Amino acid sequence: MANITFSNPKYRDKTVYAVAGSHTETILSIARANKIPINFSCENGECGTCLVKVKSLSHKPRMGGFLTEKEKVVLKEHGKLNNEEELDNSEIGDMPPTWRLACQMIVRDEDIVVEYE
Ligand code: FES
Repeated sequence: MANITFSNPKYRDKTVYAVAGSHTETILSIARANKIPINFSCENGECGTCLVKVKSLSHKPRMGGFLTEKEKVVLKEHGKLNNEEELDNSEIGDMPPTWRLACQMIVRDEDIVVEYE
């Protein structure tokens, strides 16, 4: 089970639980199911509207997770994946960068904070 805390300066933080077996769900689908007002448009990793910042709250090392090619392109276009180290970590080490697309990121078994605009 993962705790996902959605954070935005305009609203109170809201923590929701991703139950076992739900790990095919994206951050965006969980946000929508819980009425968290994350902006989105294409829902297909192409527009960048759903850009969010993700931090791990777990005391264990961050869980791996690959970026789709579409997500890499959009993150680069928005200046969120220009650091070579982050790109290498993502492509070679499967360690995701801080910035993600909510419609592309699958929730894993780790507690996270999702900051959204
Ligand atoms: Fe378009 Fe996520 S809604 S990239």
